[in-house]
Amino acid sequence: MSTLSEIEKNNYINQLFEFLSLPSISADSRYNEIMQKTAEWLSDQLKKSGCDSSKIYSTNGHPIVYGEKLIDKSYPTILVYGHYDVQPPDPIDLWTNPPFEPLVKKTEIHPNGAIFARGACDDKGQVFMHLKAFEQLIKNNKLNCNVKFMIEGEEEVGSENLETFLKDNIDKLSADVILISDTGLSSLKNPTLTVGLRGLSYMELKVTGPNRDLHSGTYGGTLANPINILSDIISSLIDSNGKITIPGFYDDVVEIDKSSRDIIEEKSKFDEEKFKESLGLGETKGEDGYTTLERKSIRPTLDVNGIWGGYIGEGSKTVIPSQASAKISMRLVPNQDWEKVSTLFTEHINNIAPKSVKVEVSTHHGGNPYVTPENFKGYVSAINAYKDSFGKDPIPQKDGGSIPIVPMFESILGIKTVLMGFGLDSDAIHSPNENFGLDNFFIGIETIQNFYKHFGN
Ligand code: BES
Ligand code: MN
Ligand code: MN
Repeated sequence: MSTLSEIEKNNYINQLFEFLSLPSISADSRYNEIMQKTAEWLSDQLKKSGCDSSKIYSTNGHPIVYGEKLIDKSYPTILVYGHYDVQPPDPIDLWTNPPFEPLVKKTEIHPNGAIFARGACDDKGQVFMHLKAFEQLIKNNKLNCNVKFMIEGEEEVGSENLETFLKDNIDKLSADVILISDTGLSSLKNPTLTVGLRGLSYMELKVTGPNRDLHSGTYGGTLANPINILSDIISSLIDSNGKITIPGFYDDVVEIDKSSRDIIEEKSKFDEEKFKESLGLGETKGEDGYTTLERKSIRPTLDVNGIWGGYIGEGSKTVIPSQASAKISMRLVPNQDWEKVSTLFTEHINNIAPKSVKVEVSTHHGGNPYVTPENFKGYVSAINAYKDSFGKDPIPQKDGGSIPIVPMFESILGIKTVLMGFGLDSDAIHSPNENFGLDNFFIGIETIQNFYKHFGN
């Protein structure tokens, strides 16, 4: 492993700042041109880092950036995946610096500084660690694997075009392992290695009542109010024990036996008090019979992500709205199938919808859960890489988030994934003031190089 000089460290931060200055917001079509520009910037960087070739593939959505360096057929091949798109920065007023004007600030959690910008951790900062680890390996004549980079621009909106790209390029993408840094670890002192991701079913509900907004005095009391009905439906979806009430929802859920769960809990050193404190909460809440750590990793969930309808402007307006809507996501665990769950959800809503309104259900996107198998070379190499950088064994832990393309790497390409993420829960990904610790960034660069060392041997 090589250590970085202060000059290199500074250069890397400045280069990452260029990347972070590009508002590559995939969800908002006003930024389509910037998406292209970001892809070009990245493709250029792949060449500068040492790829023999790099190319931008256009899709029906945002482009995919692909680069490779194939040094020897007898060496193993690593396919690095990541995403250059970011979440919208809203609410913008809550940022202490503009989200696309990155800067380094010292914080209590990051006394050596953290980079504040949208995408600092998710996922531009983590993608950039891979470019720099690769660059270092070449520079020090230590590259012992073939490398392919595939960085997409639609992860935050469901990766639908990447699925097509995988199906069309099975041979081109052949590799021995997929390596991804797009998750987190519990702390730099006691690092965890992500061994699972939850799946996702993302749904939308629309309730329509009268054919127009009505005076709530003239008509109030005579008809079903869509917002009230929507609220009834939503609140009926979780019972008083924290269980999801959709029939069949838990049928495929793999139950982990209590003794294994206790071992995971013990090893994790999860601190409930710190968790509550970091969120400004007096108590946690969730499914009965499970701990907070379990609720955020091995158990499925149902949450409303947004709800609207009626009058929400200043002051008051007396009105019965014609319509009300909600966006609802379900996080899924092994062996749930997101399409099956979406169907169960739709059928259940149709069954409970009262005749007094019209209820429409639609599916946005989804993905299946993933578990990294522990008995293959990629996993063992990751464990050893963490041992080298952190001086201790990482604790295997399932993450609550989702990366929908990961199970497809296995189902379409037949390749298993190693999730080596270096973010912290406190990085505020998807929130205002997203940040990424410099220590995390640099230990990531080091650990990735250690991964190559073990995987290429
Ligand atoms: N990097 C995250 C996923 C993640 C975050 C995994 C934290 C583990 C820990 C990814 O960019 C993401 O935000 N995924 C979305 C899914 C997507 C379909 C919008 C998610 O999990 O909500
Ligand atoms: Mn991400
Ligand atoms: Mn994300």
